[in-house]
Amino acid sequence: MNRIFSGIQPTAKMHIGNYLGAVRHWVRLQDQFDAIFCVVDLHALTVPQDPEELRTATRELAATLIAAGIDPKRSILFVQSHVAAHTELAWLFSCVAPLGWLNRMTQFKEKAGKKREQAFLGLYSYPVLMAADILAYLATHVPVGEDQKQHLELTREIAGSFNHRYGVEFFPLPEPQILGSATRVMSLRDGTAKMSKSDPSDFSRINMTDDADAIALKFRKARTDPEPLPSEPAGLEGRPEAANLLTIYAALADISPAEALARCGGAQFSTFKAELADLAAAKLSPIAAELRRLLADPGYVEGVLRDGAVRARAIADPVMERTREIMGTLRV
Ligand code: AMP
Ligand code: TRP
Repeated sequence: MNRIFSGIQPTAKMHIGNYLGAVRHWVRLQDQFDAIFCVVDLHALTVPQDPEELRTATRELAATLIAAGIDPKRSILFVQSHVAAHTELAWLFSCVAPLGWLNRMTQFKEKAGKKREQAFLGLYSYPVLMAADILAYLATHVPVGEDQKQHLELTREIAGSFNHRYGVEFFPLPEPQILGSATRVMSLRDGTAKMSKSDPSDFSRINMTDDADAIALKFRKARTDPEPLPSEPAGLEGRPEAANLLTIYAALADISPAEALARCGGAQFSTFKAELADLAAAKLSPIAAELRRLLADPGYVEGVLRDGAVRARAIADPVMERTREIMGTLRV
């Protein structure tokens, strides 16, 4: 059976962009694949983190994933630092990945900015750790957003060059599963900026923990233009805020943008925003309620993660054993 692996960083609370752009698809993929989902705390450590906050965010993200529908019985859900294979394989891969490949990575250039000399080695080798995450499980498919495509390409190059150098067909070349076409969710305050947990304004995003009142208020205050909604998708061109709200509506209703416009086209924003808020509250409040229940029961969530790590190790350990053997370490 094909196996998917995906990871998400525990850097802040999950918002509707993460949900509609990534996690909602993960939930669906559990039906078709043997699925492994990882809270990648070691990736979060590539930029400074407060230790207590990182621990809390890791537990809360795991709880949010379960509340959103990741089923820990069918899938494996675990924390990256609980399985040592990730860091060991990252080291082994760092001995087959040329600097030239890493120098091409645009995310490092963006994150390091002008202070390249002060950037940490971990930020630079981040994509090698990501390759290790995926290949430690011989995963064949990786659901990721557009922004991670380059890292996945590097993963394929590392797998291919390892196989070639050692004359084996060991690591698969994992395929990207680029997630749901329409769902790049933009900020509610600026239709040209991605909805992001790093935006200082909480009014820019809908958090998975927001209640119906907060959701309604945020949509009411969301930036729009004075025109009513068009009846065809072409009418959304040059109207990023209108397009964004419609994208969110369509994703939540599980219909295409054209179908959403057939339903809501011609409406004034005051009406449409109220409908959107009702729909969002209806879809998100069961998740928020489940999340509150899980956060009140940290023992359960930790048990899930402990069990996930045991099952993850059972897959990754033999892969590590074979990788070391291929590379020539001594077994005694
Ligand atoms: P991040 O929180 O940026 O590490 O992203 C976690 C996952 O959510 C990744 O798969 C991203 O591609 C996805 N994601 C983050 N922000 C958005 C957004 N505004 N719209 C759609 N997907 C997003
Ligand atoms: N780098 C990914 C992100 O920032 C997270 C990630 C880490 C990941 N390891 C992964 C995604 C492995 C897919 C597969 O979104």
